[in-house]
Amino acid sequence: MLKLVIMSDIHILPPQEVKFGLDTAERFEKAIADVNEFYDDADLCVYAGDIADKGKIESYQLFDKIRQNNPVKSLVMMGNHDDRDVYLDYDKDAMADENGFVQGAVEIKGYRIIMLDSSEPGRVEGILCATRLKWLANQLALAKAAQTPVILILHHNANRLHMPVDTYRLTESENLAITLKQSGAQIAQIIAGHCHITTAGSWHGFPIATLSGNQHRVGQYFKNMINHQQPCYEGPAQFAVIIADETNLTVHFHNYVDRNIQLPNAMFPWKRNAVFETKE
Ligand SMILES: [Fe+2]
Ligand SMILES: [Fe+2]
Repeated sequence: MLKLVIMSDIHILPPQEVKFGLDTAERFEKAIADVNEFYDDADLCVYAGDIADKGKIESYQLFDKIRQNNPVKSLVMMGNHDDRDVYLDYDKDAMADENGFVQGAVEIKGYRIIMLDSSEPGRVEGILCATRLKWLANQLALAKAAQTPVILILHHNANRLHMPVDTYRLTESENLAITLKQSGAQIAQIIAGHCHITTAGSWHGFPIATLSGNQHRVGQYFKNMINHQQPCYEGPAQFAVIIADETNLTVHFHNYVDRNIQLPNAMFPWKRNAVFETKE
């Protein structure tokens, strides 16, 4: 059974900086504490971009200081808030391809996990240039040849969410869809951050999901909102967990900052001593 933790939109500020009382470093510590408590048997943890709120080296240092307590092997991707050059200069062991993009692929338990760099310095929207699409096509060809299903992770959501973020999601996203379709590879799941909202659906026939991440959650956007300002909430802070075997892939959304009140166990007596399938 593959278990993959995906964290996104960590938005670490330089040390001691807090925005409107929201301490992203403290929240990230909670995320790592929950991995220790509940997911220390995961195969991999991927940080799907927007690691540093302002792309500063001090933020990457603080991020690493906190993530050293993560018991799971982890890989870092870039988002629009990051600075790829600063990061690559700072982390000499960063995941990077031969062209200097922060991307890579690993094969674990019958899945090919492709981490695609959709960030472009100075741009808020996602970009996939011809070089990155070619790299992706090569990765997909390997998956197709080995008949391994693909889990594709990128920072920017490719799909429309019917919210203002649509104007700065992945641009020319149809090029991604064409590359995926032409490859003939089995796409088991696409997952992204960036939009700070939990969604699930399909896009060009591929299963796709987004997670709300570490910093803040945005609510749905309705056209009659006052000043058209989309509401943002301090919670939940969330990471995703993909659990998959050869026939089944599930995405859980694990909230580690959450003000929902847990209902009394007595309300659900039939759940006492519950058991579930334990196939590994
Ligand atoms: Fe973000
Ligand atoms: Fe972003």
